[in-house]
Amino acid sequence: MKEKRFKTRSEAGTLAMGERVAEMLLPAPKLIVLRGDLGTGKTTLVKGIAAVLGGAEAADVTSPTFTLVHEYVGSKVRLYHLDLYRLETERELLTLGLEEMAEQPDALVMVEWGEKFPSVVARADGEIAIEHAGGDERMFVVRVK
Ligand SMILES: Nc1ncnc2c1ncn2[C@@H]1O[C@H](COP(=O)(O)OP(=O)(O)OP(=O)(O)O)[C@@H](O)[C@H]1O
Ligand SMILES: [Mg+2]
Repeated sequence: MKEKRFKTRSEAGTLAMGERVAEMLLPAPKLIVLRGDLGTGKTTLVKGIAAVLGGAEAADVTSPTFTLVHEYVGSKVRLYHLDLYRLETERELLTLGLEEMAEQPDALVMVEWGEKFPSVVARADGEIAIEHAGGDERMFVVRVK
């Protein structure tokens, strides 16, 4: 298990941190749960990671709040960004096809609100836990198998 802690003081700081976190998430395939309250910066961190690994501009990476899943194709990984906040049952999760995504050899699946589903936690290769640390400060703990 690799574990690293980071602290950021701004949105830009979290975007930039994506670069350092990205290298911990290789090689694919991996499924990572992003754990943290509303507005802690889960989506912001994925923007930073997608800019490094997903062949995307951070500005083009938006929250999959309503679409539930966004896909970015980079040279090393196929990045799936999921937000399960609005999902309620394991049955809905099956319909979403999380299993099929995660099975691909080049998949990096990053799941916001994945901790709601025991099946997702059981399958995860790691997690990124984010906490408010006062004002714009955020604490990140990255744990990867
Ligand atoms: N250090 C920081 N890192 C990340 N975001 C920050 C930071 N400081 C302030 N912010 C602000 O906090 C918000 C984080 O939003 P973001 O959508 O990334 O959160 P989220 O964890 O994905 O929330 P949700 O659970 O609603 O999906 C943004 O408005 C951002 O500007
Ligand atoms: Mg989000």
